[in-house]
Amino acid sequence: MSDVIPARSPSGDSNNIAAFVAALPKAELHLHIEGTLEPELMFAIAARNGIRLPYSSVEEVRAAYRFSNLQDFLDIYYAGASALLEMQDFYDLTWAYLQRAFTQNVRHVEIFFDPQTHTGRGVAFATVIDGISRALDDAEARLGISSRLILCFLRHLDETAALQTLDAAMPWREHIAGVGLDSSERGNPPGKFREVFRRARAAGFVAVAHAGEEGPPEYVREALDILEVVRIDHGNNALEDADLVAELVQKRIPLTVCPLSNVKLCVVDDISAHPLKQMLDLGLFVTVNSDDPAYFGGYVNENYVAVAEALGLGREELAQLARNSFQASLLSQAAKSVLIAELDAVTHRF
Ligand code: ADE
Ligand code: ZN
Repeated sequence: MSDVIPARSPSGDSNNIAAFVAALPKAELHLHIEGTLEPELMFAIAARNGIRLPYSSVEEVRAAYRFSNLQDFLDIYYAGASALLEMQDFYDLTWAYLQRAFTQNVRHVEIFFDPQTHTGRGVAFATVIDGISRALDDAEARLGISSRLILCFLRHLDETAALQTLDAAMPWREHIAGVGLDSSERGNPPGKFREVFRRARAAGFVAVAHAGEEGPPEYVREALDILEVVRIDHGNNALEDADLVAELVQKRIPLTVCPLSNVKLCVVDDISAHPLKQMLDLGLFVTVNSDDPAYFGGYVNENYVAVAEALGLGREELAQLARNSFQASLLSQAAKSVLIAELDAVTHRF
């Protein structure tokens, strides 16, 4: 693993959307660390662990990244994650993402991890969280990137397994800010996880959940009412229910939207049909994120640029999205204010 710290992107040509986006300090709030495993690193880690991947080359892996829905993707994503065994693997995975994030002017990250994907293969919870946490500590010290970790329960498994995972997390309590819910949405409503979220909240974790990516608006409502989430991950299908939209606006519930993910997983037909602009116009508290960038063809800046170009977003809207990313984060108000002041200084220079 290279230990070279790359330079931040220069602020560049002020007439260029990509340069403007690159110059914006921003937070990423919807990022699965297992979804940042680039094929090159997947092969390198699999080779040192003596694991055979079901692909013969990096090109073959990339060619397999054609999905017609969430489940298609998840099958490949869990197969890729099976290369990860040792603490160093989780460190390298996380450090590689953080170096990329640094080059994109990401100043704060809230990272999802899926412990059950690993403990189900016999990898200890401690191995996973130790590797990820060490990289996050190094990013704070060496790259100036702050972070929070969010433990996601796999919703295709049962609540008993989620409760066991919460128990396994307790010795690591101070490393984990929140709990989330991910994996196959349809047929696995948030209400299935009522008790584990109740216990997690009682233990001081904040709650978030994927909802309304493929599932109906009722799942967004359940995430709010039963899981008492502070943010909704995706939330696209909330748009089908005007009363729900009004509630999300009124309560200022952030939505962590992932445009390129939505295209790759056929949640939208095309980037030009993405509802982000409509969400902004409705007054929803939206942020732009990359979800699983190694699989979906872009990190956070590529997501901003894709929606800016396809939906005609101007600089004011792009800056608002970056401002929202800090405001919707789990950072303290003081830390948010510092980062937003920096953001405002950058936008004034352009
Ligand atoms: N796990 C990783 N990415 C996901 C997504 N977009 N939806 C649900 N679960 C996921
Ligand atoms: Zn996600």
